[in-house]
Amino acid sequence: MKCLIVADLHYSLAQYDWVLSMAERFDAVIIAGDHLDISSAVDWRAQTIVIRKYLDLIAARTRLITCSGNHDLDSRDASGEKVARWVRDFSRQGIPSDDTSFVMEDVLFTICPWWDGPNARARVAAQLAADALKPKTRWFWLHHAPPDKSPTSWTGQRYFGDVELAEWIAQYSPDIVFSGHVHQSPFARDGSWVDRINTTWVFNAGHTFGAPPPHIVLDTVNNEAVWLSAAGVQAVRLDQPLERPVPQLTTLPAWLTSPDRVGDQSPA
Ligand SMILES: [Fe+2]
Repeated sequence: MKCLIVADLHYSLAQYDWVLSMAERFDAVIIAGDHLDISSAVDWRAQTIVIRKYLDLIAARTRLITCSGNHDLDSRDASGEKVARWVRDFSRQGIPSDDTSFVMEDVLFTICPWWDGPNARARVAAQLAADALKPKTRWFWLHHAPPDKSPTSWTGQRYFGDVELAEWIAQYSPDIVFSGHVHQSPFARDGSWVDRINTTWVFNAGHTFGAPPPHIVLDTVNNEAVWLSAAGVQAVRLDQPLERPVPQLTTLPAWLTSPDRVGDQSPA
């Protein structure tokens, strides 16, 4: 399975255009939260209409998997906690999203919503506990906030990650967690787009302005993940220990540059 992974597109239509243009080259596109930009001059309701259209177009070209981020909260649940109902509702249209678990090839995906209080946090905990009991070969999570005390949540000055997620990772050891949220982590000194916590790989592609967005290409057959950004190209092999500093690539892997795949162009 070849996956394109981004997060924090924040209503950048140029970045959505780029993801849409790349979508059919991948078996799955993963957008790990923060579709909207709450500081935008564009009303958030208008943003949801535009983004919904983009997601429909992407989903028409490949399997789209997405979760909410803290910018995506549009309503409150019965207990008064903020939730991203418009993201959760994608599941009804066949786009796996918040509170959903599903199997693709040999991978069980658990899609966690942005949780803003104890009720939503309890729902996430229950979802993970239930999925832990399911038979699976590989287990991938979407969770917008990266784990605390990880280079993927390092701002350059302090950690800004999720303590509960770190505990859940320690408890369940998923194979991969796709995050975002801390935009600068991949670009900050001592930060990174990738971490390994025991056997779990954690990814946060980061956020920059303009297209293409920083992105990760994951190949589950070749067991390799490549991060492409304006700051360079780095790669890790998932079947080997994480090395730091993560090696910079000067040439792209063959599986990434084959004619029917993305990568036969400048990564910048
Ligand atoms: Fe964000």
